[in-house]
Amino acid sequence: MSQVILSGIRATGRLHFGNFLGAVQNFVKFQEQIDATCMYFVADWHTLTTLKDPEVLRSNLIEMIKDYIAAGLDPNKSIIYTQSSIPEIAELALYLSMFQPINELNLIPTYKELVRKNPDQVSLGLLSYPILMAADILGPRATMIPVGEDQIPNVELARSLAQRFNRRFGEIFVIPEMMEQMIKVPGLDGNKMGKSDNNSIEIGAPMNIIGKLYMKKGITDPERKHLMDLGDPYNRCKSVYGIHELITQDEKDLRVIANKCMKAEISCVECKKILVESIAKILIPFQEKRKELTDKDDYVSEILYEGGKRARSIIAKTVAVVRDKMGIVLYS
Ligand code: TRP
Ligand code: SF4
Repeated sequence: MSQVILSGIRATGRLHFGNFLGAVQNFVKFQEQIDATCMYFVADWHTLTTLKDPEVLRSNLIEMIKDYIAAGLDPNKSIIYTQSSIPEIAELALYLSMFQPINELNLIPTYKELVRKNPDQVSLGLLSYPILMAADILGPRATMIPVGEDQIPNVELARSLAQRFNRRFGEIFVIPEMMEQMIKVPGLDGNKMGKSDNNSIEIGAPMNIIGKLYMKKGITDPERKHLMDLGDPYNRCKSVYGIHELITQDEKDLRVIANKCMKAEISCVECKKILVESIAKILIPFQEKRKELTDKDDYVSEILYEGGKRARSIIAKTVAVVRDKMGIVLYS
């Protein structure tokens, strides 16, 4: 059976360098696999659980698609669409909800966390978020879901919903596998990029700004206070060396940096300069392509229409079977 690789992205805003390295570059790699169908969509319904401004949602969506395309997603190789263009997804979520015990939803960690933070803003939509996500996944019969750690319980829930449904009605759904391959990209403070407000690198930022950010805020080995102090790049320099490891292409260059750090033969300033050069090699080509898309909203809409049509025809087939199994006949 050929693979269907699927992932959704909430339209919460522009990408940062962590998303770019951790997720988008993988999406681009997957689309080169000849025997895989890649489906990437903007989960705009899911975005409504937290984002309430319609204008912001509309513009985020278009700008994000531009980011993805400039990063290398190719509408000829991947199906790119928005969730809300496919009403059958919402319909499928409704059918799936009949099989979902509420107490399991109450235990999802991301949900519990949001309830803890804002106990008086817990909507039904937030509680049923994972059911909608299950519909995203099961509708196109996805086989492989690349996910970040926080999404694992949601995909688990999709798997058990599919199993429950199949036990009752036969092999209707494909049970999706997870691919927990999202690399954790360290931010300026060494924690996962994007987790705190102040540790991200904007992918659209000019290189001199990115350089300054690393110089000022990139936390280096705290025990290396002077140039003569020996560094421990592997364990004590997540913010700078952690990114070097991810992007400095040449294995040799990387080892040279680590060795020089351990022998105190390179200054942190120099090391950061090399890092910013490596970042530039990745981001400058991206930024050039991204600029070309600035006033190409119509082109983006075309891609989404095209992708929406293709995705809808795939998903509608599954939903027609589900309807039939559940005894629903459409009279309109
Ligand atoms: N919940 C995911 C997130 O916040 C986004 C998402 C929605 C998704 N539907 C999906 C991811 C289906 C994978 C598959 O990141
Ligand atoms: Fe980190 Fe580089 Fe300084 Fe070593 S030289 S502590 S790897 S910034």
